[in-house]
Amino acid sequence: MERTFAMIKPDGVSRGLTPELLARIQRKGYRLVGLKQMVISREVAQTHYAEHKERPFFGSLVDFITGGPVVAMALEGENAVAGWRAMMGATNPESAAPGTVRADFATTTQENITHGSDSPESAERELKLFFSESELLK
Ligand code: RTP
Ligand code: MG
Repeated sequence: MERTFAMIKPDGVSRGLTPELLARIQRKGYRLVGLKQMVISREVAQTHYAEHKERPFFGSLVDFITGGPVVAMALEGENAVAGWRAMMGATNPESAAPGTVRADFATTTQENITHGSDSPESAERELKLFFSESELLK
């Protein structure tokens, strides 16, 4: 069993896609071991996306991700890290396979609806950044 950090970004929340996305996750069979709606601080956003801090889109990405509520999730299941990334599809929705979240709901690379950890190491770091121990099911 593996855990990953997943997030519905502000565009997904403001467009009312939370129920649809939670349904996809639960139909797939992932166990929701953490779930909360929150507004991300700029400090947490900068830490979360630190790998991109030299990229030209960093400022705009931090503005976007802190610009409204998100839904933060901890998902548990077999190969949950790669599995949730596969359900999300490619970063650029134009390249995302049909049936993935980004292909089905997004048109721009920045506002691409969801986040998923890109490795087990990232998942561990991101879960710690967003959830305290007591907020996660055993
Ligand atoms: P994420 O981290 O959000 O799950 O997305 P990802 O791994 O598929 O993509 P990543 O390269 O880590 O980029 C993080 C997020 O930054 C925004 N982005 N904008 N304007 C641009 O060229 C650009 N490139 C990336 C997207 O919101 C992307 O998901
Ligand atoms: Mg990423």
